[in-house]
Amino acid sequence: MGKTFYIETFGCQMNVHDSEKVAGTLLRCGYESVEDPEQADLVLYNTCSIREKAAQKVFSRLKQFGKVREKGKLFGVLGCVAQQEGEKIFEAAPHVNLVVGSASYSNLSRLVARLEQGERRVSGLSLDTEETFETEFTRRDHPFRAYITIIEGCDKRCAYCVVPFTRGPERSRTSASVLEEARQLAGAGYTEIQLLGQNVNSYRDPSAARLSFAELLAGVAEIAGLRRVRFTTSHPRDFGRDIVKVIEAHPALCNHVHLPVQSGSTRVLHRMQREYSLEQYLERIEWIRNACRPISISTDIIVGFPGESGADFEETITLLDAVGYDSVFSFQYSPRPNTAALHLPDSIPDEEKALRLRILQDRQRSIQLGRYQSRVGSVEEVLVEGRSGRGDHRGDQWKGRTTQNIVLNFSALGAAAVAVQPGAYWLVRVTEAGPNSLIGEAVQGPALSSTVAAAQPVLKSPFRIL
Ligand code: 5AD
Ligand code: SF4
Repeated sequence: MGKTFYIETFGCQMNVHDSEKVAGTLLRCGYESVEDPEQADLVLYNTCSIREKAAQKVFSRLKQFGKVREKGKLFGVLGCVAQQEGEKIFEAAPHVNLVVGSASYSNLSRLVARLEQGERRVSGLSLDTEETFETEFTRRDHPFRAYITIIEGCDKRCAYCVVPFTRGPERSRTSASVLEEARQLAGAGYTEIQLLGQNVNSYRDPSAARLSFAELLAGVAEIAGLRRVRFTTSHPRDFGRDIVKVIEAHPALCNHVHLPVQSGSTRVLHRMQREYSLEQYLERIEWIRNACRPISISTDIIVGFPGESGADFEETITLLDAVGYDSVFSFQYSPRPNTAALHLPDSIPDEEKALRLRILQDRQRSIQLGRYQSRVGSVEEVLVEGRSGRGDHRGDQWKGRTTQNIVLNFSALGAAAVAVQPGAYWLVRVTEAGPNSLIGEAVQGPALSSTVAAAQPVLKSPFRIL
């Protein structure tokens, strides 16, 4: 075996997809991928620093990696902690040889070549870039869902958020390059595409075509073979009505919008520098709710931001009832380096943050249960993801996801038991509901079902699916 690498990823979908591109780059450089760090010549760790806990994990994991250290083995730290801590990582974890932030991935093959030539400490930490990471090769780790980055970095200055410091300024890809990648993926049999960016609504086509984000969505949704197109994350400030209109007009765009609110109090939103009020947020919710399709809404919420009073928190709880989210990702505020909120007075004690989080999650759980129960009896189309973890004597159990991004575990009996496969689309009748998922029975596998894992055609550059 030639040179080998192992990559472990922590963090958001952007990071997961960055790792796919990094893996593609290394394969291109003659490396082979292995599943075990002990067997790898190059061990990479792609990191997240969104909350303190995530960042702390990096150093304990690096210590563990240190144990498999042997002569000639190289270690690299990538991603947001790499960017944030920079060359300090070499001091804290002396076995690390490579520190690279996401804005420097387009240089990765050159940086790795320097390691191969014998340099012991190599870093790529510049944020001063106009470039996006367009790889010639991307290793796709999911057999039927593919990610496409449309915009990197973030120009917002949310007071709590480390991302502008770890991912640098906004850089959009040309619409032609995004559409070409989407076409190639469709040609390779992928049926679900997720367009990624820290703030997809800030997408600015740098080419003469000047497509807006909504036009780009329409373009991707019109590609033959694509059945589900999702996008994340939207910033409410830049979320325009044109996005709702384009969802209404294109069946391939999923019935789901993730619209992080962070707080239900305009006072807190102002302190967070979110650039919208509760009223403006609710206006966008109105647009979505008034659509001719049942668009599901999910959100992110931070509790215990400095200065958040009991009354502010109550407003967030009221918002949960007012919107009726199908999913909420909620977090205790965690102070992050370089951010404006570090200097805000009135920090909330940890116990109070934990209490607010519990209250919020309990409330959302009962809202969600009610919303999910109202779906019992309906027939939903799911994309089958694989076997379900639920052990059950009633027959084969499968896990699927609806267009609204809700997990639907279902049983397939009789002829269906042998026909269901990952990557296929099935109609499923919902028979029961829990607070986090639905349960149902397979009704029918549409003729158009497609499985992807099968032979993929070899594609020409610029994007090759390995
Ligand atoms: N503390 C807690 N949660 C945070 N998030 C971002 N920064 C912080 C922080 N400092 C949450 C936000 C964001 C999600 C990805 O993570 O809710 O939308
Ligand atoms: Fe974590 Fe944010 Fe970096 Fe994603 S962009 S890896 S969530 S810090």
